[in-house]
Amino acid sequence: MSSLAAVTRVFRLTVLRKRVRHAWIETRWRIRKRTDYAIDGTVDAILGVKTFSRVPLAPDLSARNIEYDPLPYRSLRAIARHLPLSPGDHLLDLGCGKGRVLCFFALRRVRRCSGVEISPQLAEEARRNAQFLRARRAPIKVTLGDAIEAQIEDASIIYLFNPFSAEVMAPVLRNIENSLRAHPRPLRICYANPAQGTLLESCDWLTRTDRFLVTWNGWHTCPVNIWSAGSQPAENAPTLGPARLRLRRGGSACLKESRAAAERLTRR
Ligand SMILES: C[S@@+](CC[C@H](N)C(=O)[O-])C[C@H]1O[C@@H](n2cnc3c(N)ncnc32)[C@H](O)[C@@H]1O
Repeated sequence: MSSLAAVTRVFRLTVLRKRVRHAWIETRWRIRKRTDYAIDGTVDAILGVKTFSRVPLAPDLSARNIEYDPLPYRSLRAIARHLPLSPGDHLLDLGCGKGRVLCFFALRRVRRCSGVEISPQLAEEARRNAQFLRARRAPIKVTLGDAIEAQIEDASIIYLFNPFSAEVMAPVLRNIENSLRAHPRPLRICYANPAQGTLLESCDWLTRTDRFLVTWNGWHTCPVNIWSAGSQPAENAPTLGPARLRLRRGGSACLKESRAAAERLTRR
């Protein structure tokens, strides 16, 4: 074989290997994404809610605010493992969309879950979901409005899934800090896909206590950071790795949990 033919062969083999690898990565991504959709649709059906599918924001809102696109339930389970809750906790989701997070945490023993949503259509859907949620253990309140003007009140956990730009995040953080001054208490901020994370890093009243990855749109690449304020112990070491491993088991556990919740309800 001439040297030119050998070089051509090696080149073709390399190209083929790359194509096969890309095809394999894409197939895995599609399978994961569809599996998540199937799990989310089933969990929604079991819980009697409709939190599925993304919804674009109205054009006049989209410059500073991010559209509705929830994390899959199995990622919420992974987050819940990193966010131990107590019966006294009040969870506030700023930018709650259709209320998936509110419904998910209201199945647990917490004092209450509340959400603020800027889109009237989404806020209405969140209210409907809260009303029809099966096996709810905590009350849910949804407020239509801008997170900038949100009543933080006595919230002990603030949940954010990349809801808005820095323009909105800065006043929101000032609002949270003022609420802490008025009512000193332990507070945790759970921020998924923390696009404005540098703003939180620059707050001297906050300490990052945990960070890990969850799955989103089929990729295991959505970072979640938890910041604590007040007398919250900074006991959780950063754990970027193990959450990834545990995610694989998250799907079936999610289904089991929602089925168990529905069974509890029918037994009552
Ligand atoms: C990425 S979604 C997250 C939804 C929900 N937190 C979840 O995890 O399922 C962001 C949501 O924030 C809402 N949002 C964006 N800007 C907002 C603002 N300034 N005030 C209140 N809600 C806002 C959007 O309408 C959208 O529903």
